[in-house]
Amino acid sequence: MQPLNSLTTSSLTNPKLFEFIYCISIIVITLNYHKTLYFKGGKWSRMELLEAIRNRRSIRRFEDTPVEEWKLLNILEAGRLAPSAHNKQPWSFIVVTDPRVKEKLSAACEQDFFITTAHGVSPPVVIVVCAHPGEGWVRIDGEEFWKTDVGIAMQNMSLAAVNEGLASCMIVAFREEEVKKALAIRPEERVIALMPIGYPMEKKGPVTNRKPLHEIVRWVT
Ligand SMILES: Cc1cc2nc3c(=O)[nH]c(=O)nc-3n(C[C@H](O)[C@H](O)[C@H](O)COP(=O)(O)O)c2cc1C
Repeated sequence: MQPLNSLTTSSLTNPKLFEFIYCISIIVITLNYHKTLYFKGGKWSRMELLEAIRNRRSIRRFEDTPVEEWKLLNILEAGRLAPSAHNKQPWSFIVVTDPRVKEKLSAACEQDFFITTAHGVSPPVVIVVCAHPGEGWVRIDGEEFWKTDVGIAMQNMSLAAVNEGLASCMIVAFREEEVKKALAIRPEERVIALMPIGYPMEKKGPVTNRKPLHEIVRWVT
């Protein structure tokens, strides 16, 4: 095997090798242009954004397998990078792995979303998505945008979870005061959703049951 620097030098003097490296570079650049090419689990993988959107499903049953911290950080980073009206970022995220706290969150839900297994309460992680209405942008007519902002951050996080081979669900059917009490959340903050995160135990195909484009799009040309 030639060392990399001698390969670079010989590619400059050998036109055939130069041509080969040039072609490979163009192919890699083209692939990257249309799709995201990333190195993961020892191999190169591609994930189209639309593919992740299609494959994101609401998953409510999870494996007991813990979620790697770096994957959680990637998910939270996706939430952090979300756009918001006037870049106000009126959100915060609480990461819950403590089984006793997860029990309390489960009890605050209207249905048994947090299926209890022999090893404890599934899922392994719950991200509690909070809003700070007082920090959000308000339009001149009084319309507030903090809920929109937080919704975008939630979708960013659920897509990032798919990208990491994980799954989630946005759960809003809970008694907010109970969740706030369980986590000592300040009165001025709002709890928008609970997002259980974990490796999916249920298998679902890509999204299908959506209104067709012709019902929801009006073109003005
Ligand atoms: C804002 C929002 C709130 C939701 N709240 C709940 C909920 O409280 N409980 C639940 O089981 N699913 C909840 N879901 C999941 C929806 O039921 C689900 O997204 C919808 O049925 C479409 O299914 P899919 O996500 O698998 O494509 C919520 C989704 C959104 C976007």
